[in-house]
Amino acid sequence: MGKDVIIACDFSSAEDTFNFLDKFTDEKPFVKIGMELFYAEGPSIVREIKKRGHKIFLDLKLHDIPNTVKKSMAVLSRLDVDMTNLHAAGTVDMMKAALEGLTREDGTRPLLIAVTQLTSTSEERMKNELLINASINDTIVKYASNAKLAGLDGVVCSPLEAGMVKDNCGKGFMTVTPGVRFADGDIGDQVRVTTPAKAKEIGSDYIVVGRPITAAEDPVAAYRRCVEEFVG
Ligand code: C5P
Repeated sequence: MGKDVIIACDFSSAEDTFNFLDKFTDEKPFVKIGMELFYAEGPSIVREIKKRGHKIFLDLKLHDIPNTVKKSMAVLSRLDVDMTNLHAAGTVDMMKAALEGLTREDGTRPLLIAVTQLTSTSEERMKNELLINASINDTIVKYASNAKLAGLDGVVCSPLEAGMVKDNCGKGFMTVTPGVRFADGDIGDQVRVTTPAKAKEIGSDYIVVGRPITAAEDPVAAYRRCVEEFVG
């Protein structure tokens, strides 16, 4: 499993996205397409970015009944993305159905990872609104174990949780981690952040980096700095 930096392309139009990607003339970064861009531009944006030679993490976080998720994953698989995701809260049956839907006739499929608890969900909200009395760390480990049981490849989590997930699910279970900032950079609205170098040390397999690259004066230089710190 190769370590890589994934750029979160959180743009609202194809035009802004291509203006950004056009800056990269020497390399083809792995990119993340989220709900905003996908809902704005539809599946064609995925095909166009793929045609330009980028690997794609399609971050749509599916969560529905198993049959609906299975059929939707089959559609996403035909878009030839490299990685996609769902909410582990959909339970093991839903995750197994997703894997079935994602697997192409020739046996290949994109990587499938699960969101455990969103970083915006606090222990207090889990307790008061969702009536979940376990600690947030226990639910993260349990949801990650469920994802592993269902046959998924890994989870999205904070880099600070990656070690805990690896300890419980094994080294080969992937951790894809947002919340990355340069030591001398702006934190913005992220709370629990680490640097690319620290994420590497903790054991993240992929870091997802948005604004430290997309809002940088020189995005290509910022991307290269990330790769140098994280991949080496
Ligand atoms: O700009 P920034 O580096 O904060 O972007 C991080 C990306 O990772 C965004 O696309 C955000 O939606 C996503 N993400 C996150 N925290 C999670 C899950 C996804 O920041 N728990």
